[in-house]
Amino acid sequence: MEKQFPKGFLWGAAASAPQTEGAALIDGKSPSTWDKWFELEPELFYNGVGPEHTSNTYHMYKEDVHLMKEMSLNSYRTSIAWTRLLPDGETVNPKAVEFYRNYFNEMVANGVEPIINLFHFDMPWWLMEKGGWEARESVDKFAYYAKVAFEQFGDIVKKWATFNEPLVHIECGYMGDAHYPKVHDFKRAIQVAYHTLLAHAKAVEAFKEVGIEDGEIGIILNLSPAYAKSEEEADQAAAFHADLFYIRSFLDTVVKGYFPEELIAILKEHQLTPVVEEGDRQIFEDNTVDFLGVNYYQPLRVQAPLPQEFPAKGVGYFSRYYDWPDKVINPHRGWEIYEQGIYDIAMRVKEDYHNIKWFISENGMGVSEEERFFDENGQVQDDYRIEFVTNHLTKLHQAIEDGSNCFGYHMWTFLDCWSWLNAYKNRYGYYRVDLDDAFKRTAKKSSHWMKELSETNRLVI
Ligand code: NOJ
Repeated sequence: MEKQFPKGFLWGAAASAPQTEGAALIDGKSPSTWDKWFELEPELFYNGVGPEHTSNTYHMYKEDVHLMKEMSLNSYRTSIAWTRLLPDGETVNPKAVEFYRNYFNEMVANGVEPIINLFHFDMPWWLMEKGGWEARESVDKFAYYAKVAFEQFGDIVKKWATFNEPLVHIECGYMGDAHYPKVHDFKRAIQVAYHTLLAHAKAVEAFKEVGIEDGEIGIILNLSPAYAKSEEEADQAAAFHADLFYIRSFLDTVVKGYFPEELIAILKEHQLTPVVEEGDRQIFEDNTVDFLGVNYYQPLRVQAPLPQEFPAKGVGYFSRYYDWPDKVINPHRGWEIYEQGIYDIAMRVKEDYHNIKWFISENGMGVSEEERFFDENGQVQDDYRIEFVTNHLTKLHQAIEDGSNCFGYHMWTFLDCWSWLNAYKNRYGYYRVDLDDAFKRTAKKSSHWMKELSETNRLVI
């Protein structure tokens, strides 16, 4: 069977500056929280690998773009490192401008459309010392950084995003230990969420002020549909609340321009309302997005809150559910595989968010010890990845046929890259990166498969 995708569909891959560039502390770049955290507690990082090398794209970008072209990708998403462009928050670093202009121009010259994001979990250390996203000051600092980026690169880059998965730096940094500053405090997390969303809206405002010809601005959200354990009222209420916290909190705000009423009521009830300033509401209303990036990996399975977990993460409106029927788990990573979720989220965007244009900005399969799948020539035979992408694309295609306004599919990721505390534990790329051999890139089987798909625009099942 064959599935034809719309003309002009974007085929590509996603990554981020802190996970691929390396060169973390050279050419004027100042440390981000990741650089500093690694210096302070290197033992927390898998195999002691920190952000200073990652995949060395800073020095190898030409080769990387060449490989993208070879794979016939027509688009690529990465980010700018705030700490490289504005090491002290004020002064533009000419080395950064040179690097990013070269890198983005290289993409355009090779038929790869750059989609550039501004914040991918990499808070400047100097700003974290002043309170990070808890401090209102960060909002204006970010808006200034956004404006500089639009001015410096807006002639090359037309598609921009403000944040990648804002929920993650909030949840992992203020309700968990996977991101710095490892705080566990729901009230503080709410303030961080509020400032993040406001910073997003102010960056959109700056985008309009700068006025990039043919420019579009969006945000990249991880949207995991929530499925209830049963039809029971309490389980259904749990799913409603999981959806409210994990989907509507961000999606309503960036697409519709206001926070969901039910969320405001809950925050009031628990004295969790963040500090806001007069005029903020208007900023949200006036600065909604042109498009959405949706990162989809796995859904949320929820049930009524378990008494022993009360108060659970957040304010205890739902608990995770771990034992649903027909459970399929990626054995190499531990995450659920549920391709129906990509269809459900696609239709949700269509039905509840005025069919705004959107693309899959991340989807993919992490695999630990992937060298287990080398063939005799040292090529990773990642048939599991081909199967994963095929199944997800089949559902995505169905959603497009059913009218969802999806314009592309980006897999996470192009090159195996550094993944925060997990470093290179789980590999996701179309290309393998050999850390012991000068970051040598080797095509995996899936890269050939993807090349054909992007050339023909046709999925063969
Ligand atoms: C989401 C994030 O955007 C990215 O930074 C991360 O490495 C991947 N997903 C894989 O977990």
